[in-house]
Amino acid sequence: MDPTACISAYRQAFRQEPQAISFCPYRVSPLGTHVDHQGGPVHGFAIDQGITIAYEADPAGRVTLRSENFPGQLCFSLDEIPGTKLGDWGDHLRGAALLLSRRQRLWVGLTAFIRGTMPIGGLSSSASVIIAFLEALCRLNRVELSDRELIDLAQAVENQYVGVNCGKLDQSCEVLGRKDQLLYLDTLDDSFELIPTPTRMKPYGIAVFFSGLSRSLAGSGYNLRLDECRAAGYSLMAYAGLPYGAFADTRLRAVPREVFHAYRDRLPEAWARRAEHYYSEAARVEAGTAAWRAGDLEQYGQLIFQSGHSVIHSYECGCEQLITLYEILRDTPGIYGGCFSGAGFKGCCMALIDPEQRDTIEHRVAQQYLRAYPQLEGLYSFHLCHSADGIHEQRRFGQ
Ligand code: GLA
Repeated sequence: MDPTACISAYRQAFRQEPQAISFCPYRVSPLGTHVDHQGGPVHGFAIDQGITIAYEADPAGRVTLRSENFPGQLCFSLDEIPGTKLGDWGDHLRGAALLLSRRQRLWVGLTAFIRGTMPIGGLSSSASVIIAFLEALCRLNRVELSDRELIDLAQAVENQYVGVNCGKLDQSCEVLGRKDQLLYLDTLDDSFELIPTPTRMKPYGIAVFFSGLSRSLAGSGYNLRLDECRAAGYSLMAYAGLPYGAFADTRLRAVPREVFHAYRDRLPEAWARRAEHYYSEAARVEAGTAAWRAGDLEQYGQLIFQSGHSVIHSYECGCEQLITLYEILRDTPGIYGGCFSGAGFKGCCMALIDPEQRDTIEHRVAQQYLRAYPQLEGLYSFHLCHSADGIHEQRRFGQ
């Protein structure tokens, strides 16, 4: 993390020096897409790009925010935070302050400048900005949250305030991730393992191909897909005579795979496909764990491509441009595996690539994608990233 650009943007915006910096990385998830809200297992990395907040305490309890990525200045007071979202870029931050203030008294506000290093969409900048902001508020108000509390609180901000019913993949990668280690998280009980990259494994880089189309998850089809998964799970439990509880608490993880196979044909086709994705993706994560431990990058990459196929054809998200991008990645030499990054409603694709072939990959993908969508010239972009430590490590060393 290099905070220099954020510090100078802060100086320019507020004509003073910031007192401190808070940084939270973005994440990528090569396997385990769209299963975290169903209690499934996921893989992920924190990466060496993210959101920096440069700030100065405001003892009067005011919060004044500017962002490099959004226009205008937002102001609110910690004792009068709107109880519901307003529909602008401040929702994630007001939500974070409100939910934290319900647990702990907050009296010190801040004047802050926020800067993300990558285009928005697919790398989980929402979770990242929430976590960086919570960290700043906690530090100023001497609040101590454990990693688990921070992850849960950041997820609650999205679920309860912003209105996206996301799981905890993003927050977990951004907090728990470790450089050169693959995070395996079981979202059923939050148990996790950081699996080191075996020394015999070929080198890889994490490439991000930004489609040129940004969008936030609020208002996308994300919540609808989640309801379809729940509906599939609820119906399957009823057909099989299994005990079920509240619809809102239904997770496919509670439904054995055999039950799905026995009753699949009774489900509406769309719901059956969502469940199909869940079971196949959970199996890919387990197979991917074994491949990673064995240092088999080719096998791991094939699983990522299969995951991408399942998200397109069974989970049915993505958009024309993102699907084209995925197809180009699949046919590009030097790419071990690639898929949509994150929810896949616009945003970007990610891939594990051979770093030695970086230039040819960058050139070939850009050429083919922009031939299909010349209007996205200047908006499409390629970035080569690496795994990095999540903020757990920063907190440990008190940075
Ligand atoms: C978004 C959500 C996550 C997860 C991914 C898809 O990033 O915030 O909880 O569901 O999509 O895997």
